[in-house]
Amino acid sequence: MGQKVLVIGSGAREHTIAYTLLKAPSVDEVTVAPGNPGMLKDGIHTTQLSQSNHAALIDFVKDNDYDWVFVGPEVPLIEGIVNDFAAAGIKAFGPSKAAAQIEGSKDFAKQLMDRHNIPTAQYKTFSDLELAQDYVHEHGAPIVIKADGLAAGKGVTVAMDELTAQRALEDIFIDHRFGSAGAKVVIEDFLDGQEFSLMSFVNGTDFWPMPISQDHKRAHDGDEGPNTGGMGAYSPVPQIPQSVVDEAIETIVRPTVEGMAEEGTPFTGILYAGLIATVDGPKVIEFNARFGDPETEVVLPKLTSDLGAGISAILDGETPEFTWNESNATLGVVIASNGYPENVIKGAHVPEIDVDEDSHVYYAGVASDEHGNLVANSGRVLLVETSAPDIKSAQDKVYAIIDKFELRGMFYRHDIGFKALK
Ligand code: AMP
Ligand code: GLY
Repeated sequence: MGQKVLVIGSGAREHTIAYTLLKAPSVDEVTVAPGNPGMLKDGIHTTQLSQSNHAALIDFVKDNDYDWVFVGPEVPLIEGIVNDFAAAGIKAFGPSKAAAQIEGSKDFAKQLMDRHNIPTAQYKTFSDLELAQDYVHEHGAPIVIKADGLAAGKGVTVAMDELTAQRALEDIFIDHRFGSAGAKVVIEDFLDGQEFSLMSFVNGTDFWPMPISQDHKRAHDGDEGPNTGGMGAYSPVPQIPQSVVDEAIETIVRPTVEGMAEEGTPFTGILYAGLIATVDGPKVIEFNARFGDPETEVVLPKLTSDLGAGISAILDGETPEFTWNESNATLGVVIASNGYPENVIKGAHVPEIDVDEDSHVYYAGVASDEHGNLVANSGRVLLVETSAPDIKSAQDKVYAIIDKFELRGMFYRHDIGFKALK
């Protein structure tokens, strides 16, 4: 009999993880907690349990005999949900509380990189406004200001002039814009180059890299507008040469995994390296302790091996196998509520989107109204993904699907993949 898996989270990332698990021969049943009603279209179950209620999740897993748990988002990981599952005798895939600090504290990540000579921007950490102001003044622009803790991708200011940098410091220290996430600030040198995301399955000592992808963080076409959680992604990223990916694996992923193991905080789960290809080679922008969103929605569709078998092998201390379709291109476009990310206007009607077998709709911020129709109830509403022989045809195909609709109350970028097509 196949396995029963519980996935924790509710976004398009978790929809993709659950959908990929359900397609795997080793898995029979997938439930997502809390999930969203869009997932039901794919035969995925959902259960109304909060990702922060560890005790209720533990009871649910035990009462319903789930074989193991996949933890999607960073918040429960940083809160130690994998430790709590382990203490209850439940296998859960994701880093421990200690290892999840690689995402939960930028200062932790920076110090780890320092100790292991992992290439990243030069930085200094401050918890005092005046000292930070002096440093910014001496250093000059461009310069990057980051709130230390979790700020959902919004705690970063890339300041091209000193005034913008000083304003960002005031926001953090005087206006407490990021609450306790801004009690400390990391100030780093500006790095120039193309960004790409390199995610790996990690078992504590070894790792299995996935194909790279590229996110689009700004809200509007041409990389204009505010930073968001991500408006679309594609894979592969042909303008990043394989030699740069190989260098990133050897100079970044390997020393990170080995360094964390040596230091007694081994990382198990998905290690996300947000990288930038500079003239001096690839450097780290950030680490995440989980799958990227929307990167997952374009990377997992390339997996040709059994995701459930791969992860359960890692959980059982065996060697997993992961194989990928390296010849096609995937591309995904996020549809978001108007006003995202600053002032989200919820309630847009979400149309039924028909797609062919090479495409899929992954749902995120959707709720069901009294007639059972989907309505937008958060910033990022859904993502339409497609696979095609190359990036241009994938882009044409996704937009042919989306442009048919008159989407009231929602918007999307029209240029996902543009850096690959220049
Ligand atoms: P983060 O939340 O650390 O990923 O930062 C959000 C975005 O800010 C990144 O995706 C980059 O586009 C930009 N960014 C962060 N750090 C730097 C840096 N040191 N140099 C240039 N851009 C950066
Ligand atoms: N797409 C960036 C992230 O998942 O943090």
